[in-house]
Amino acid sequence: TLFFVCCNLSCATGGADVPSRYLRPEAVADAVAVAGEDQIPIIDYQRLLLDHGEESARLHRVCQDWGFFQLINHSVPDDVVEGMKANIQQFFQFPAEVKKQFTQERGQLEGYGQLFVVSEDQKLDWADMLYLYTQPPEDRNLRFWPDQPANFKSTLDKYSAAVKDITDTLLATMAQNLGLEPEVIADTCVGGIQSVRMNYYPPCAQADKVVGFSPHSDSDLLTLVLQVNHVQGLQIKRNGSWFPVKPLEGAFVVNVGDILEIFTNGRYKSIEHRAVVDPKEERLSVAAFHSPHIHAMIGPLKEIVVHEDEAYKTVDHEDFMKLFFSAKLEGKSFLDRMKL
Ligand code: SIN
Ligand code: FE2
Repeated sequence: TLFFVCCNLSCATGGADVPSRYLRPEAVADAVAVAGEDQIPIIDYQRLLLDHGEESARLHRVCQDWGFFQLINHSVPDDVVEGMKANIQQFFQFPAEVKKQFTQERGQLEGYGQLFVVSEDQKLDWADMLYLYTQPPEDRNLRFWPDQPANFKSTLDKYSAAVKDITDTLLATMAQNLGLEPEVIADTCVGGIQSVRMNYYPPCAQADKVVGFSPHSDSDLLTLVLQVNHVQGLQIKRNGSWFPVKPLEGAFVVNVGDILEIFTNGRYKSIEHRAVVDPKEERLSVAAFHSPHIHAMIGPLKEIVVHEDEAYKTVDHEDFMKLFFSAKLEGKSFLDRMKL
């Protein structure tokens, strides 16, 4: 069962005194960029659509070598992206009484609060979040969808459809790059699950002693993250060090999740990452997670493992998700448990 965090961070903090549940003295060594690299790779979505040569070959290498990239020139209209940003900023600015209406229910994931809290004495992330199921549409639980700002629901609806569309296209290109029929992965996403997690990281006077988002890898196929304001904080594990991601305005930071690593029998890598907190400024981001439909089997694709051993177990998607959400986040420990 999930424990309930009774007071959200935005009402608990402000001054220099950080509650001990958030203090992680060992936590935040400085991020160190690797010599010769100062940015994660950039993939141009329009070039990917137009030429099925150079850019998709680059995408293939990036999924093997980095597991993370920035997607520029994507097809989500500016007004939808800007609308999402404005609505998320406004939502987290609302007084606690307003946000509380959307508080997670005991044992449930959706709503306003925190995820991965499994014990009373566990350290907490320095963040509040709003987590919603967005696809398939019949899985939406509108009771958790804010009714203010007035266009919150309609903008999230458009955003959800647009990022799912991009994800399906990326998955088709990736399948081809892996020598598969384009629909092999995307077919598992017909009726697939998309959830959206909006993150609010308040500034912290002891920013070097707290963590905004504990180190983890994502459990899904593909995640698209939009940076909402200008404050940076996302870092990825690269050659043993924390490597800072510097999001370009309006770009998506895209990453390979555990299911894509498993599907590809380890060809594509789901990379550990975390979010750090700024001492002076708040930071906001929104992540859209894409997973197969609930009845899919999660294991190495049979088309991939014709001539090789399976490196991961095969489990039912529902069991896979239950397992993931019932533990605290600890680097790639969840994925490690899936290894054979
Ligand atoms: C994450 O989704 O892992 C972190 C997203 C972020 O705040 O950049
Ligand atoms: Fe993540």
